[in-house]
Parts: sequence; C-alpha cells; structure tokens
Amino acid sequence: MLASFHQLLLFVLLFIIISSVEHGSARVTSSFVRNEWPAVDMPLDYEVFAIPEGYNAPQQVRITQGDYEGKGVIISWVTPDEPGSNKVEYGKSKNKYEFTAEGTVTNYTFYKYKSGYIHHCLVDNLEYDTEYYYKLGAGESAREFWFQTPPEIDPDAPYTFGIIGDLGQTYNSLSTLEHYMQSGAQAVLFVGDLSYADRYKYNDVGIRWDSWGRFVERSAAYQPWLWSAGNHEIEYKPYMGEVTPFRSYLHRIATPYLASKSSSPLWYAVRRASAHIIVLSSYSPYVKYTLQWHWLREELKRVEREKTPWLIVIMHVPIYNSNVKHYTEGESMRTVFENWFVKAKVDFIFAGHVHAYERSYRISNIHYNISRGDRYPVPDKSAPVYVTVGDGGNQEGLAAEFIDPQPEYSAFREASYGHSTLEIKNRTHAFYHWNRNDDGKKVPIDFAVFHNRYWAGGQQRRRIKKNYLKSVTGNN
Ligand SMILES: *[C@@H]1O[C@H](CO)[C@@H](O)[C@H](O)[C@H]1NC(C)=O
Ligand SMILES: *[C@@H]1O[C@H](CO)[C@@H](O)[C@H](O)[C@H]1NC(C)=O
Ligand SMILES: *[C@@H]1O[C@H](CO)[C@@H](O)[C@H](O)[C@H]1NC(C)=O
Ligand SMILES: [Fe+2]
Repeated sequence: MLASFHQLLLFVLLFIIISSVEHGSARVTSSFVRNEWPAVDMPLDYEVFAIPEGYNAPQQVRITQGDYEGKGVIISWVTPDEPGSNKVEYGKSKNKYEFTAEGTVTNYTFYKYKSGYIHHCLVDNLEYDTEYYYKLGAGESAREFWFQTPPEIDPDAPYTFGIIGDLGQTYNSLSTLEHYMQSGAQAVLFVGDLSYADRYKYNDVGIRWDSWGRFVERSAAYQPWLWSAGNHEIEYKPYMGEVTPFRSYLHRIATPYLASKSSSPLWYAVRRASAHIIVLSSYSPYVKYTLQWHWLREELKRVEREKTPWLIVIMHVPIYNSNVKHYTEGESMRTVFENWFVKAKVDFIFAGHVHAYERSYRISNIHYNISRGDRYPVPDKSAPVYVTVGDGGNQEGLAAEFIDPQPEYSAFREASYGHSTLEIKNRTHAFYHWNRNDDGKKVPIDFAVFHNRYWAGGQQRRRIKKNYLKSVTGNN
C-alpha cells in the first residue's frame, strides 16, 4: 500500500514535471507524408533558372548581413563574361543612387568548369529600419533590387525569421521557396545543404551551383540569408581531382565572420533586432581546443541578453532527432557543446540534414558520467528547443521513417516538405510555425508560443520592472 502510494506520488510528480515543459501535450508523429512532386531537379532550361538579359548582366544576386549589428549588408553577384565592375550603387529612393561601394572579385575552377566572376561588396553604415535600393552593372545590363535594414538592436524589437534547410533545386524546392516568400519573414536562417550540385559530376557541379544561385535570387537579393554549411558543401571529389573542402561554397558564399572575431567564414555570429544568432559548422573541427571551440566559448561571453534576449544557434546536423536517417550523427557535437547551450540558456537550435520536420521539448542530457548513470535526456527548462527543418525539398527525397516509439523528448515530427517561421514579438514571446507544402498550398501545421529563456520564469517580472523603472527615471 505504502509502496503504491509512493509510486502514485512519483507518477504525479513526473506528470507535473512533464506538463510544465512548454506545451507538453501529447507527442505527435504525423502519419501525413506529403510528397508533392518527384525528387528530381528542375531542368536547366526551366524559367526559374533564366539568365538575365544583356551582355555580362549580373546574376545570382544575394545579400547577407555584413556586420555584427545589422547596419551592413554584403551584396554578392556573378558576372559571366568578364569581371566587369565591383561597384554597387545604392540609395534610399528608387532610381536615385547617391552612394557607391566597391567590392572584390574572385573566380575559381572545379575540374574543367571555370566559374564566372564572383563579386562580394560590403555596404556599411546604413540606417536601421530603412529601405535601400541598389543597382549592379551598367547600361542595358544593369539590374536593380532593394532591401530593408533591420530595426536597431533592442530587446523588444519584433522581427520574423524564416528557417529553410536542405533546399536543392527540385520542384519541391520551388514550392518551399514560394511558400516562404508568402510568409512575411524578413531574413532567412539557412541551416545548410544549399544547391545539391555535388550530386552531379565533373563540370555539372559548377553549372548546378550557378543555376541554384539564379533560382534563390528571387528571395535572396531582397532580404538577407544567413548561411551555414552542410555536408553537401564539402565536395570532396578525388575522382576528379577536387579535394579542397568547401571550395565552391567559400568562393560563392560570403559571411560576416570577421565582425564576430571568427577565423573562418564557416562559423560566426550576428546580432539582428532582438536576436543573437550563432552559426556553427558541423563539418569543421569543434572538439576541445579547436578554433571553433575557442571561438564559441568567447562568443557566448559576448551575448548580452539584456539587449538581444533571443539566443539562436544554427547548424547543419541536428543534436536531437528521432529519424532513422542520420541517427545519432549529432552525438559528437552534443558531447562537446550541450552543457554550454544549457548554461547559456539558448532559446532555439535550428538544424537540417534530416529530410523531415521535427521539434523537441526542452530537454538536456548533460549529467552523463562515464562511471555512473544519468545518461538520458530529461526535461530541462534551461535547455534549447531543437528543431530540424531539413525538409526544403532536394533531389534526395524525404526521410520518411521515424524511430518507433517516438522518444519522450520529441514533440512533433512529420516527413513532409516545408519551412518554419519564428515571429519574435518582444523580449518574452515568440510565435513559431512549421508550414507544410501541401498540394501547392502553404499550410501551418505545427505551432507553438515560446517564452524567452532569459526573460521567462521567476526573474522575468523583476527584470521588466527594473527596466521600466530605469526608463521612467531616465536612469540608465
Ligand atoms: C580568373 O579570371 C582571369 C581573368 O579572366 C583568368 O585569367 C584566370 O585564369 C581565372 N582564374 C581561374 C582560377 O579561373
Ligand atoms: C563521476 O562519478 C564518479 C563516481 O560517482 C565521481 O567520483 C566523479 O567525480 C564523477 N565525475 C564527474 C566529472 O562528475
Ligand atoms: C509580448 O508579446 C505577447 C504576445 O504578443 C503579448 O501577449 C505580451 O503582452 C507582450 N509583452 C509586453 C511586455 O508587451
Ligand atoms: Fe545534410
């Protein structure tokens, strides 16, 4: 009798713990598998890959954040025929380009493929929350675009991020991109595996990087995509004499890594509106004493949750995921960084790699000790939510088989194509959606309201009150 009373107590306690985890409702494995189109790349003569008219016209135009605070952008483009100008003309109204910035140009070969002339140009010291117009090229070949700078760094600045991963260049990729563009999100957190050009051989690798660049331009020229690299960017191809890792990626994709004191474009951080975003490289060394390990340790010290309450980490390989595909590939990084993520109270970790959608509860597994127990993920209010969005729609198709039964830590999973949006409302609240590509429509399927890890909980009210008092007394 006594024992069963204790058991009941334990059960009640466990129930309280589990239901206090955010949205600890029943775990869901959606049996829905929406496989819209066959997983094949769109043909090179398809309209989404069209080459802009005019001799040497700039193509594959894209922008990314160019500094640490959101007042700069790096504009990148390719000129196919000759180097042309490295200049960007820009200004605050259309057709009135008061300013110019000068960039750099590079080119590379991959097997016998010769790249076009790849330009990167930093446009800096912009005003916050302002629309800018920019022009590339000249005369008949000139092309014009625009973008909006983010609001000033502020703990209550609302901002909406999109999260896209493993995109590729199939009809499903196009569906994901079109749905993303309807979402109203202001910047993309790209969780790796861009073009899947490495699925091709010889000169077609370079050709498919170019087609992909023209494909994503419709979004990436108008709002920043923040890049992280995946396994499809490594391109280790000894059979054609190409063995330098990330060769195409590093020539084509610019990141503001120097602004966060990083030694490599593959890992870096930026602050944008109310978010601090840390980009990690799953395929660069990260164990203790490596450059990435040192850098992350320092970057976590630079995080100021009073200014940027939302701490977001993106990487390619998920740390918690329960798909059969790529099972446990994130374990090595988990053993190195998970305790830091928990200690830093990271809000979200977004990853890709697995071609299905999954969201975890807040859990951690940091008490493992090689000589005793505690080797299970347990509910942990300081832990991040782990989200896998590797469902962009590339030519490898969906990872439709999940491990059964669904682990305790897994909140929602479904093997369909789609993308996510994270709508930050203020320092305490963010609305999160995963949107499925469904028969040509964008359908929000998984929804959650998240409370900030720094401002949530017992200290939240005290901090807000203190800040409020500061703001009314002008005592900063
Ligand atoms: C880069 O472009 C220059 C000028 O056209 C050319 O001479 C050179 O061979 C190219 N380099 C590579 C690596 O393709
Ligand atoms: C691991 O467990 C052993 C035995 O309980 C203990 O002596 C040791 O201090 C623990 N190590 C760590 C790093 O916690
Ligand atoms: C933050 O946003 C949430 C959701 O929109 C809202 O309910 C809450 O009142 C806001 N908090 C403050 C302090 O404005
Ligand atoms: Fe991958």
